[in-house]
Amino acid sequence: MAEFKLVGLCGSLRKASTNLMLLHEVARIFDPESFVVGDIDFPLYNEDIENGPGIPDKVQRLADQIADADAVILSTPEYNKGTSGVMKNALDWISRTEGNCWKDKPVAVVSASPGAQGAARAHSMLRTLLLPFRPRLVAAPEVMAGQIKSQLDENGTLTNDMAIKLVTELTDELRREVRRMAA
Ligand SMILES: Cc1cc2nc3c(=O)[nH]c(=O)nc-3n(C[C@H](O)[C@H](O)[C@H](O)COP(=O)(O)O)c2cc1C
Repeated sequence: MAEFKLVGLCGSLRKASTNLMLLHEVARIFDPESFVVGDIDFPLYNEDIENGPGIPDKVQRLADQIADADAVILSTPEYNKGTSGVMKNALDWISRTEGNCWKDKPVAVVSASPGAQGAARAHSMLRTLLLPFRPRLVAAPEVMAGQIKSQLDENGTLTNDMAIKLVTELTDELRREVRRMAA
């Protein structure tokens, strides 16, 4: 949907992250006017930082990007049966910014792992963590990409027909949610 602004958050910071590749694929299939991957490489949340130097500029920048976006997609790896500390830390920091950038925001969650279950537990944990912020979270389909390396080619393009179908359905739902909010 060429008119929409999309922001993506990836719970893995490594350069070759498969979740980052999946995030780019979801964005490509959504086809927005603009897509930025938000920087969530924040310091660990510490109330002394908040009460001292204050909320870091990069946290505020991301909160502003989310507030300004038409939709947000999050991709999470699974670390020890949960979402990454990086992702949780980002949500905690963002929750300390003025207002609530997530409120009524169309949001989709995806996940990827080399295991068979596609980071299912991290995926459902991330959904639960988002709920208090009251986004318009797309309920289904749940894109949990297992054995992710076999689903991406050397350019990071999704090659698995079923995964492409699910991502297409997910982006259709996300688009519908954006239009519903704009109506
Ligand atoms: C600390 C740690 C814990 C992990 N725990 C799990 C896990 O519980 N389940 C799982 O499927 N993969 C687990 N993995 C493997 C990750 O799914 C794998 O590293 C994945 O590629 C990370 O995502 P990325 O490619 O986006 O960086 C773990 C990896 C690390 C580093």
